[in-house]
Amino acid sequence: MMNPISDYQKKTRNSAKLFARSKKLHVNGVSHNIRFYEPYPFVVKKSKGKNLVDVDGNKFVDYWNGHWSLILGHAPKKVKDSLKKQIENGWMYGTVNDQTIKLSDIISKSVPVAEKIRYVTSGTEATMYAVRLARSVTGKKIIAKVDGGWHGYTSDLLKSVNWPFSESESSGVLNEEKIISIPYNDLEGSLKILKKFSKDLAGVIIEPVLGGGGCIPATKEYLKGIQEFVHKNNSLFILDEIVTGFRFRFGCLYPTMKLDPDIVTLGKIVGGGMAIGVMCGKKEIMQYADTKGKKKSERSYVGGGTFSANPASMIAGYVTLLELKRNNSIYSKINELGDFARKELGKTFGDKVILTGKGSLFMTHFVKNGITEITNSTQAAKCDSLMLQKYHFTMIAQNGIFFLPGKLGAISAAHSKRDINNLVEASEFFINSKK
Ligand SMILES: Cc1ncc(COP(=O)(O)O)c(C=O)c1O
Repeated sequence: MMNPISDYQKKTRNSAKLFARSKKLHVNGVSHNIRFYEPYPFVVKKSKGKNLVDVDGNKFVDYWNGHWSLILGHAPKKVKDSLKKQIENGWMYGTVNDQTIKLSDIISKSVPVAEKIRYVTSGTEATMYAVRLARSVTGKKIIAKVDGGWHGYTSDLLKSVNWPFSESESSGVLNEEKIISIPYNDLEGSLKILKKFSKDLAGVIIEPVLGGGGCIPATKEYLKGIQEFVHKNNSLFILDEIVTGFRFRFGCLYPTMKLDPDIVTLGKIVGGGMAIGVMCGKKEIMQYADTKGKKKSERSYVGGGTFSANPASMIAGYVTLLELKRNNSIYSKINELGDFARKELGKTFGDKVILTGKGSLFMTHFVKNGITEITNSTQAAKCDSLMLQKYHFTMIAQNGIFFLPGKLGAISAAHSKRDINNLVEASEFFINSKK
């Protein structure tokens, strides 16, 4: 097998030059930390369907899919046409617009808890608001999250994201003692901690499938158990469905587990590939955000953002959701492709890996340190992340397949069984070269 680094360098000469310029202008050359990988990331020129095309003309079958936001693939025609039309009519109003009402109509009908909605332009803002709202509603300060839970870069929730979870993630983050961390999928362990902090517990925020933390589904029993405790304690149960919302079915994941969250955050898919974040919830909770006639001390001041509910994001989200609703078979297709990918990759790698995920999301963990199952981020962190990076990089360099190195893969409506078969074949070649 040729050296993947030299193969990569040979085919990405223009990217190398451009990225050198990018490095001069941007910290580490990027604007999102995870987008950098060694020796340098390729620079994208355009995208369409399942493909990214770089500035050297290389085409990649993309499993990163815009941070998993592009469930219909890149630049799907209907969304593109609606955006073109929107551009003709102006793309930034800074006022109330009909596009927002359309998107909210469809979200409120498909997400039962979305009795009231607030839009922002990132998932990070949505979870920041959710935390503030929970504190306002309960008059308490502590928020619990899980080890490995990723809710964006908000200072509040930038804690216990990466292994070792007990170490602070960043300097400059204050009041970290107001965020506590609980072990994912370990109800007994979690309740023990929650009980200790119950008096000042404003809420718990959890992803029903850990995304950044290793593509690990939560068990229904775990989520139900946490919810029960939280509600008995008069705290709020916040589900972060920014990755999972509209990913596995038309709507959120929580109704399939008969959960009753107070606040749900959405993002990614519901923006159709444009910038979005959504905080929605029960009326009696969301009404704290209504500033009308309230003293400062009574209100939850969550509602800002120059670009909040801009018509371009709203229309892209609306058309995407409309397409998913009209064409529900997209879900059976991509969920089945995900099952197929997990099964076939599992056969290819044998006991060298554990495949995690759900539906169209999947992740390959190379076993290390005696790990035999992955139900939480600690186990995922103990796996061989270096080997995963090598595997993903080899896919990029030699097989025209793109995973953001180290991250989970997402299947879109633009992928086919042949793509998965190609991935399996390339993986087979990779693992055989390691023997
Ligand atoms: C579960 C979850 N919550 C929140 C966020 C933050 O969203 P954004 O990157 O749009 O700020 C992410 C981003 O990946 C996420 O996966």
